[in-house]
Amino acid sequence: MKNIDLSNITDAAVQSFCALQNDRTRHLVQKLVASLHQYAKDVQLTHEEWRAALSFLHACSDISSESRSEFSLLSDVLGVSSLVDLLGGKPGATPGSVLGPFHSAGSPWLNNPAHLIGANEGVPVLFRGRVCDVQGKPLPFASIDYWQNANNGLYWQVDPQQPSDNLRCQLQVDADGMFEIATIRPVPYEIPTDGPVWRDLVQAAQRSSWRAAHAHIIVTAPGYARLVTELFDSEDPYLDADAVFGVREALVGTFKSTQDSALLSRHGMEGDNCLVMDVELRLSQTEYE
Ligand SMILES: [Fe+2]
Repeated sequence: MKNIDLSNITDAAVQSFCALQNDRTRHLVQKLVASLHQYAKDVQLTHEEWRAALSFLHACSDISSESRSEFSLLSDVLGVSSLVDLLGGKPGATPGSVLGPFHSAGSPWLNNPAHLIGANEGVPVLFRGRVCDVQGKPLPFASIDYWQNANNGLYWQVDPQQPSDNLRCQLQVDADGMFEIATIRPVPYEIPTDGPVWRDLVQAAQRSSWRAAHAHIIVTAPGYARLVTELFDSEDPYLDADAVFGVREALVGTFKSTQDSALLSRHGMEGDNCLVMDVELRLSQTEYE
């Protein structure tokens, strides 16, 4: 008979997973079990507190759906999503930032330069940039998946007033690694405030519900690590209080007015009403290359 007590329960639980076949999975699970046990010991977790935590997770599950993951939001507001992004960062490469809940595969492929403004209201802006490796060599075979919110703060998936695929695209950079995307200036928006993550954690802690304005971007190139990141507006009021810890200094750019008539005419824009943000996106080579 196994006599389980406080002195051996953690070892017993950890060892119970030793037959997991995949080495990495076994390591992840056993370490998680050991860390959870240590946490419970450290805080002297009570039965009532553990049941409250399970009720919270049940509430997260209840409000989640195919288009809404309260668990992703939980990961974001705990800073775990950003921590994982930072752990995956490589020296010299552009830092990653949260993917967020509004990426969906299958954005339309557009020619580069890309034009996304269409019927959208808002301030016309241009993201102009170059994709290169960590030494600064252009990567002409890179492609970009881009998405952002509309002037009302909403992404097209959650706003029936917007056409499908509004303000998102995929494109191929040119022979110099360059790309241009004419769009509207992204605006700040709130994380969902109708669920347990907001009610029981973020609001309860008197934290901000706002995300600093940003454009999402995924950059891929054969042989290089996939970069999932965000571009932030240096004039945004929420840069210091982003609810999901997504802001990195290297990802903050400044929109500047341009007098470049060739650039403006390429995008059907005029004079002073277009702002340009220049960005450089550096990719690190994958380790198995
Ligand atoms: Fe976003």
